[in-house]
Amino acid sequence: MRKREFIKKAGILGMGAAMSDKLYLEMIGKYAEVPAGELAENEDFWLDIRKEYRLNPDIINLENGYYNIIPEPTLDKYIRHLRDVNYQGSYYMRTVQTDNKKAMAAKMAAIAGCPADELILTRNTTESLDIIIGGYPWKEGDEAVMAEQDYPSMLSMFRQVGRRYGVVNRIVSVPTDPGSDDEIVNLYANAITGKTRLLMICHMINITGHILPVRKICEMAHRRGVEVMVDGAHTVGHISFTIPELGCDYFGSSLHKWMSVPLGSGLLWVKKEHIRKIWPLMAPFEDKPEDISRLNHTGTLPVHTDLAVEDAVEYYLRLGPGRKEARLRYLQHYWTDKVRNLPHIEMYTPSDPARSCGIATVGVKGMKPSDLGDILFKKYKIYTAPVDGAGVHGCRVTPNVFTTTEELDVLVRALKEIK
Ligand SMILES: Cc1ncc(COP(=O)(O)O)c(C=O)c1O
Repeated sequence: MRKREFIKKAGILGMGAAMSDKLYLEMIGKYAEVPAGELAENEDFWLDIRKEYRLNPDIINLENGYYNIIPEPTLDKYIRHLRDVNYQGSYYMRTVQTDNKKAMAAKMAAIAGCPADELILTRNTTESLDIIIGGYPWKEGDEAVMAEQDYPSMLSMFRQVGRRYGVVNRIVSVPTDPGSDDEIVNLYANAITGKTRLLMICHMINITGHILPVRKICEMAHRRGVEVMVDGAHTVGHISFTIPELGCDYFGSSLHKWMSVPLGSGLLWVKKEHIRKIWPLMAPFEDKPEDISRLNHTGTLPVHTDLAVEDAVEYYLRLGPGRKEARLRYLQHYWTDKVRNLPHIEMYTPSDPARSCGIATVGVKGMKPSDLGDILFKKYKIYTAPVDGAGVHGCRVTPNVFTTTEELDVLVRALKEIK
């Protein structure tokens, strides 16, 4: 089959002909014994997964890092939750709303391997991490450490607490392709002083896909009496881990990213012993010092989104976290291995496979990222996210489980042609 015809077919397959639960389980069951690494390369399997999505046939969507399109079965259930909450109205809101939200948070706690009383559902990573940055009991002259590659919203919040409380922010720059974990650990260690209280690190840097050695950084920081807040926006539902094994103090993530919960869903985990010292961003009705729900007061919300957490978790577990991670890593290397060493190409993602997964960023030397993004989109219909700053000048490419290798062939061809 010619490439163009294939992409057309794959696009049509992705037009929403989702399988019934029974068919899906039968299909998954056929591959139960196949190791994740082997399955990662089985295009038939992933074409079946693609059928679960309604995809726009006019574009090759390689920008799934902002928002992961949700599969049709989750979308259907989400719409049912919306109808149900609307049907029950205030009765729902006054009776089971809070308990249901807690039950959904417990589902995420189970995935994250942490106690349910240390995790709340928020609207996104921004809310989760800003609760910590804004509510930390800062004193004038305290210091915080972060990287220029961290997400701009959190950097802005640190600037705000700098202006408000006199906190001094020390900013490091993470190298693109470190030679060892120690290089990264020492970078952060060198920025710590006797006044440092909090260190922010990305679990996976969004503009490069770089996975940091979080546990080693936390151990180093704790030896110096510094707490660590982890920005896990891109790791929940993307790579397999538990929050406790990271050894951090605070962890935030967006569930509408790789966990494929509908838009407006995040989580915040706070180590039990720290819950009482954080000032809530919005004062709760009742402030119980040890109860994490004190940090979760927001007023009225689109609560049907909370209910979809369970559906997304179920979908994720049925597909298999190990399989998803292996496929995303395979897809990244499928295209980056073909272009990394081309003389006109600049890669901004570590070459060591253990330091990245699905996300990678590519630049064309001498070309503005916005121009590269425009050419990829206008000439090749490939949608990416241009990044121009913090030492990164390229387009971020984030495939999803529905991405085909044929789509990535188009990207590789484009990168070879654009000079
Ligand atoms: C590393 C990182 N942190 C935080 C965020 C903010 O996520 P949200 O907009 O869902 O709050 C993003 C969004 O892309 C991100 O990439």
